[in-house]
Amino acid sequence: MDGNGRWAAARHLPRLAGHREGARAVRRTIEAAIHHHVGWLTLYAFSSENWRRPAGEVSDLTGLLRHYVRSELAELARAGVRLRVIGERARFPADIQADLAAAEATTAANTALNLNVALSYGSRAEIAAAARRIAAEARDGRLDPDAVDEAALSARLFTAGMPDPDLLIRTSGEQRLSNFLLWQAAYAELVFQDVLWPDYGESHFAAALASFAARERRFGARPG
Ligand code: FPP
Repeated sequence: MDGNGRWAAARHLPRLAGHREGARAVRRTIEAAIHHHVGWLTLYAFSSENWRRPAGEVSDLTGLLRHYVRSELAELARAGVRLRVIGERARFPADIQADLAAAEATTAANTALNLNVALSYGSRAEIAAAARRIAAEARDGRLDPDAVDEAALSARLFTAGMPDPDLLIRTSGEQRLSNFLLWQAAYAELVFQDVLWPDYGESHFAAALASFAARERRFGARPG
């Protein structure tokens, strides 16, 4: 979801104003996903690398996250959204961790939309952690090294048990994966949209879905 900073700079506003507007775009996109019967939506809200931003901006972002979870929980629950967090949540302040856990518990039975929010998420760190778990289990005799296959690794990622993404959308004209779902997106269709995240809405989401629908997906096989 990038472009918040540029959106604010173009208006001579502080970056926080762009992040606030970005939170409104999050709301619109969740509504659009439900409207289009998308079953799973994962939003990259905060990367492992984002901790390296100036302390003021990190604190603005964690503050916005705290506010967002508290103010949106009732609406998400009402709309039938199941919220889950992927990422190193332990790096956030304890009260935010508690709010996130409560939001996950409150919405656990919802089925209209599975919403994953990637927070302090980095794909390489996630894969390395899975490899560490596999190594430890093998060392302790709980896992046969010869049985380590793709499913074994997938089962040890934050996304264990979830489907791989079919479509990956990047906003603001950037054309990179930036350490997002590298393993899971092996066969995802990539759509790059030249719109800053705070301006994102239903029409952009619908356009991305239309672009996806027009693709021929072969998963490495020859056309039939
Ligand atoms: C990237 O834009 C955006 C972020 C690092 C933060 C994303 C956060 C939100 C959209 C709002 C909060 C969302 C939730 C779910 C609470 P950037 O700052 O890198 O902008 P730039 O690419 O123009 O520099």
